[in-house]
Amino acid sequence: MASHPQTPEKPGFSHRTLERNITLLGLCSLVAVAIGGIVEIAPLFWVDSTIEKVEGVRPYTPLELAGRNIYMREGCYVCHSQMVRPFKDEVERYGHYSLAAESMYDHPFQWGSKRTGPDLARVGGRYSDEWHREHLKDPRSVVPESIMPPYAFLAEKPLNAGDMAAHLKALRNVGVPYTDKDISTANADLTLQATADADASDLQARFPKAQARDFDGNPAMVSEMDALIAYLQMLGTLVDFKAAEAQEQPK
Ligand code: HEC
Repeated sequence: MASHPQTPEKPGFSHRTLERNITLLGLCSLVAVAIGGIVEIAPLFWVDSTIEKVEGVRPYTPLELAGRNIYMREGCYVCHSQMVRPFKDEVERYGHYSLAAESMYDHPFQWGSKRTGPDLARVGGRYSDEWHREHLKDPRSVVPESIMPPYAFLAEKPLNAGDMAAHLKALRNVGVPYTDKDISTANADLTLQATADADASDLQARFPKAQARDFDGNPAMVSEMDALIAYLQMLGTLVDFKAAEAQEQPK
């Protein structure tokens, strides 16, 4: 059996020297970490965006934006997330996992981290307006075991969205591409989108897939319920995942 002779000290610089000199080890570690840091951080200074452009994603219409504000005011995010994680169980339940681009015009984003209720990122089109109305007025009338609080007052309150032009302008300042026309017609667009049988072709040309109708079923007034349902009904509907998947994997 061979004995284990001690490794002879190699002449010159060796790992042994490095490991036994705390100052040198610290210095070399710093250099290694700094290189890693630069490699990760430096490219961010030269790319315009870290978000991949995705076809179909557009800014919110004024009515959807007003609905989104009510969503935030009422704290819906306390119980609902808006991000489908890329896991099999989530994708099977909610649909295609969320893309970064889908919340690129959200200020602030509504990803959330609490799911007392289901994720809402893809709830648009899943239920009728009438279902949403009944559910928001009295959740237990449609889902008997629900613990969601009722929001019946939203149907009684006229929508007082304030100066939507100023709101859109503020969002444009942080990078949301609203046009001058979007801004100048913001308040008119808001009313028009919630009115039954109005000619929404101009709105839909600027905001593709914008749904225009009387969301709350009360033609006498544009209510907060109108805005909130308009927002819920567009969530997750902008990107056509079926077309994208068909393109990726031709059968
Ligand atoms: C206290 C927690 C809580 C709050 C706050 C809350 N919800 Fe819910 N929500 C739930 C629960 C639990 C469910 C599942 C049972 C049901 O459908 O009612 C639910 C279900 C839903 C659904 C149906 C989702 C689906 O895929 O079936 C929608 C839409 C919804 N909530 C919207 C809202 C909106 C809009 C608000 C704010 C105005 C809100 N929720 C506030 C707990 C909450």
